[in-house]
Amino acid sequence: MQKIKIENILKRKGKNPLICLTAYSSPIAEILDKYCDIILVGDSVGMVLYGMNTTKKVKFETMILHAKAVKNSTKRSLVVFDMPHNTYSNKFLAYKNAKRAMKLTKCDAIKIEGGKKISNTVRYLTKKGIPVMGHVGLMPQHSLNFILKGKNSAQRKKILEDAKSLFKSGVFALVIECVVESLAREITNEISVPTIGIGASKYCDGQILVTDDMIGLSNFHARFVKKYSDIRKTIEKSVKSYCNDVRQKRFPSSRNVYKF
Ligand code: KIV
Repeated sequence: MQKIKIENILKRKGKNPLICLTAYSSPIAEILDKYCDIILVGDSVGMVLYGMNTTKKVKFETMILHAKAVKNSTKRSLVVFDMPHNTYSNKFLAYKNAKRAMKLTKCDAIKIEGGKKISNTVRYLTKKGIPVMGHVGLMPQHSLNFILKGKNSAQRKKILEDAKSLFKSGVFALVIECVVESLAREITNEISVPTIGIGASKYCDGQILVTDDMIGLSNFHARFVKKYSDIRKTIEKSVKSYCNDVRQKRFPSSRNVYKF
């Protein structure tokens, strides 16, 4: 089992699609590690696990705990630490926090949201040896509205410029979230590092989804999410069976009891 490195990710541009998913815990990371090129410890953890209404409230220390859990159970996949809101507002703060995150969690890279405005920060971090994944289009740390981006020409132009600017500043991959298909295609054609789409069509070099959304554990529904299972239903069925067993005194049975 060979550890996936940044250079392996870069080589996948225009080749077989990169497989990426999110993880916040050891058991999920252990499963994903067998299949994913990249595991993102996303700040979506705030909304998915902690019931927050925005990712903006996620604390740095919370991300550290989840990233440690994920990294401890990962041998193969590249693990990316999602820098939470307000932890990279200038290049010096970004470096201080990114360095700390990488040191404490042993993650392989960090992700930050933003376009042209954070290009300076990206350049600074990459020059200092911190691999950075960018994130453009819909950026949950900037907006509470989950709406499609790139529908008008001004917005389209800006997102494309943002993507090009991040590429020039040294990102090794770029997440494109919730944009019209033709824009995703244009960005993928214009930059030479892999694009990773979430709600951004097949015209990306890889795909990412929030694992809890695609296994049907979270309550998030969007057109771009394909549900591969309905874990909520499975859990509910198990809980109901447990309740019945306890009420009927079928649990614990002799198999679950310690006898001397
Ligand atoms: O926080 C997250 O999970 C993300 C993905 C949706 C790309 O940023």
